[in-house]
Amino acid sequence: MHESVLLTESIDYLNLNKASIVVDCTLGYGGHSSHILKKIPNGFLYAFDQDSEAIKKANPKLKAIGNNYEIINTNFVNLKEEITKRIDKVDGILFDLGVSSPQLDEADRGFSFHKDSKLDMRMNQNQSLTAYDVVNTYPLNKLIQIFKTYGEEKYAKSIALGITKEREKAPIETTLQLAEIIKQNVPEKYRKKSHPARKVFQAIRIEVNDELNVFEKALKDALNIIKPKGRICVITFHSLEDRICKQIFKQVSTPPKELQNLPVIPDEYKPKYKIIANIKPKDSEISHNNRARSARLRVIERS
Ligand SMILES: C[S@@+](CC[C@H](N)C(=O)[O-])C[C@H]1O[C@@H](n2cnc3c(N)ncnc32)[C@H](O)[C@@H]1O
Repeated sequence: MHESVLLTESIDYLNLNKASIVVDCTLGYGGHSSHILKKIPNGFLYAFDQDSEAIKKANPKLKAIGNNYEIINTNFVNLKEEITKRIDKVDGILFDLGVSSPQLDEADRGFSFHKDSKLDMRMNQNQSLTAYDVVNTYPLNKLIQIFKTYGEEKYAKSIALGITKEREKAPIETTLQLAEIIKQNVPEKYRKKSHPARKVFQAIRIEVNDELNVFEKALKDALNIIKPKGRICVITFHSLEDRICKQIFKQVSTPPKELQNLPVIPDEYKPKYKIIANIKPKDSEISHNNRARSARLRVIERS
């Protein structure tokens, strides 16, 4: 079961009316999309997901509510291209990033360091690059760089060295094998904090799915296809994706530095977007949904 994070807040902030045209970039198991669809009986929902398993599960849920939606089975990196083929601009766009609980729980997807599986981590099962390729073929320096930048892992070098030493003997095949190598290559005290494989698994997942580059491009495109008064809601789950969102939102909602001290900013230099919210889940949500603990919702509106 996937429990949607910041569900009420994100739907409220989308500020929908009955005829709104909305894009859910991350359909997942249809939690947010179902709520959106209920609010827009005369509008339309476009929902993206690159995972066909998720789509199979979400589609019947949406069908039970209405038929004013279309599921687009592709990476949201194609957001602008796909939407502008269909319609000029939209009233609301939602990103609920990362993987869903069922993706994490399904052992054969290889996302979890708790479940034994072949090393996979692809959100799109048709893509060729897998976690196996990253772990077994990337050169040492590239592994170190990925663990540092995408995992903010303090022991990136010793973990990467451990991996390259191990794979010289035989390929590293499974998630639990990888988790054990990571554990053996960090100091004892570090193993007790949180699971020592957490950051490296996050880093490999980001690399396999090119998550940060894809998100940055899609968010910039989203700003172009949103109507005036339309809103973009972004739910992130770690500091790297949140930082991208924060920086892009700041950039488009702040007047040029040299004009900031003017008593009146000329219309043509006024920012075209306004930041509406930056919130974390309530304690009550965090206490019953562990996935919510690192979540953050940022909202921006086109002026
Ligand atoms: C956190 S889940 C969304 C859950 C959903 N909001 C719900 O309430 O059920 C994220 C979903 O987005 C999909 N996803 C992540 N990155 C994507 C991308 N770049 N393109 C398309 N789908 C993506 C994943 O496959 C996953 O199903």
